[in-house]
Amino acid sequence: MQMASEGGRLVVADLDLASAQTTVNAIAAAGGTAIAAQADVGNSAAVQAVVAQAVASYGKIDVIVNDAAMMKFGPIADIAEADFFGTLTTNLGSVFFFSKYGLAHMGPGSAFVNVSSVHAYATSPNVVAYASSKGAIEAFTRGFALEMQPRNIRVNAVAPGSVDTPMLWNNPNVKSGVEKLEGPIGKPADLAAAICFLASDDSRFITGATLLVDGGRLAKLP
Ligand SMILES: NC(=O)c1ccc[n+]([C@@H]2O[C@H](COP(=O)([O-])OP(=O)(O)OC[C@H]3O[C@@H](n4cnc5c(N)ncnc54)[C@H](O)[C@@H]3O)[C@@H](O)[C@H]2O)c1
Repeated sequence: MQMASEGGRLVVADLDLASAQTTVNAIAAAGGTAIAAQADVGNSAAVQAVVAQAVASYGKIDVIVNDAAMMKFGPIADIAEADFFGTLTTNLGSVFFFSKYGLAHMGPGSAFVNVSSVHAYATSPNVVAYASSKGAIEAFTRGFALEMQPRNIRVNAVAPGSVDTPMLWNNPNVKSGVEKLEGPIGKPADLAAAICFLASDDSRFITGATLLVDGGRLAKLP
């Protein structure tokens, strides 16, 4: 919503088209411009189709926000190989695909913002697949930022703490109390503010960085 209210023309891509359309409708109701796309962001061909749709609609790409992600739970001893690698493909593969295929349509001054998690730094049992994907996203962000420096394209990440979305409330570790919700719970708008900052020229001297957006959660001793 914030990016659209600041004049961005968006493609909202999601596996769940109805969810993407709900976001697009809210943007349109507020006077913004957005189109919805159904896509599995862990699928190369699907990502390439979204990129093509963005370029066909708007002519170029200024910002890519890699936000979609999923969680699979289970100890390493038991988790299915498909669930482990499926998590990596959705969460990390999507960053790779959108970076690789979006890049050709992005000029100097454009930016990538990848969404990591505090799970890159501190986690709980049975979330290794998700935590690994988020740690890898931050390493990807640093390395890709170096590759993009000569082109004046910035690559950064945000690492959210607890945010009031279905992912938080559906998390079985949160439901069971294994992962305690300490401190304030963020709103999606709190993340949007940080993402829009990293997407904008206000952060022109920042690249390869991950901004912790967690309401101070990781600052606290256990
Ligand atoms: N909510 C939190 O507390 C929290 C904390 C840390 C990080 N994050 C991160 O924030 C980002 C946004 O998560 P959220 O909280 O809105 O979660 P959410 O589960 O509410 O939304 C995730 C969205 O991703 C979509 N998605 C899942 N797999 C997909 C795929 N293969 N292709 C396309 N779309 C797919 C889902 O349909 C859903 O709309 C994620 O990267 C998540 O890891 C969230």
